[in-house]
Amino acid sequence: MSLFITFEGLEGSGKSTQARILYESLQAQGYPVILTREPGGTRIGEWIRQILVDLRHTEMSPTTEVLLFSAARAQLVHELIGPYLSEGGIVLCDRYADSTYAYQGYGLNHNLDDLLAITTFATGGLMPDLTIYLDIDAELGLERKRQARSAPSSLAPHLATLQEGRPPIYGKPEWNRLDARELSYHQRVADGFHKLMLREPERWRRMDANLSIEDLARLIMDAVAPLLEQVQQYHLPSNQSLSDAARE
Ligand SMILES: Nc1ncnc2c1ncn2[C@@H]1O[C@H](COP(=O)(O)OP(=O)(O)OP(=O)(O)O)[C@@H](O)[C@H]1O
Ligand SMILES: [Mg+2]
Repeated sequence: MSLFITFEGLEGSGKSTQARILYESLQAQGYPVILTREPGGTRIGEWIRQILVDLRHTEMSPTTEVLLFSAARAQLVHELIGPYLSEGGIVLCDRYADSTYAYQGYGLNHNLDDLLAITTFATGGLMPDLTIYLDIDAELGLERKRQARSAPSSLAPHLATLQEGRPPIYGKPEWNRLDARELSYHQRVADGFHKLMLREPERWRRMDANLSIEDLARLIMDAVAPLLEQVQQYHLPSNQSLSDAARE
């Protein structure tokens, strides 16, 4: 059995911070685990990300935006998430399909049934086993992000090496086309996330993003721990794939 965990929340809520901590902790415990992000995580997906976040692309239609996010997601599921889950691993993903419903659905007023159909087409219906929601006030999240941009980054050198041959996936938080939208948009997105959680309360764990990084990491590990029983622990040399280990 495998395990698929996603992190959702507004900008600056701490998703990348907590995804990285969980990744390192599971890896240290000998679990087969990968960390990836949306949009991006693959060579093609990172190109699509550049188009999506470019501040110059003010003419992008909301439909184009949905399709680009979905195209990046389709590639990520096809190339990375699907194969790793089918080998019994744990996939941690920094944002996934729920972001489409919250941002393009509730934020940009796209029809939710259309988004569901496009997302199902892109992912083959793959849904997370667990989604961690980091709940933060929209203004505070954007302020955290502004501050982080003016501070030196501690994430880039380590995480850039996670996916060899792929573009670096985590650096300084970027200030992008999507962040630059007005505050009321981010507040609609937050309301959207809350509605999504009400629909599927068993899949979501809502956490107060104002807690300290350490307290949140503990709460997240408590939420993940019961699900770890469904994953086989391996202690692999770093250059050995899961399928190699399974054959041995
Ligand atoms: N619990 C916390 N308390 C205070 N600051 C935090 C906390 N978690 C993260 N931060 C800081 O807030 C900033 C944003 O964190 P992070 O990049 O993890 O958020 P994010 O949700 O991934 O943002 P984005 O949506 O922009 O990718 C960083 O400077 C980070 O160090
Ligand atoms: Mg992030």
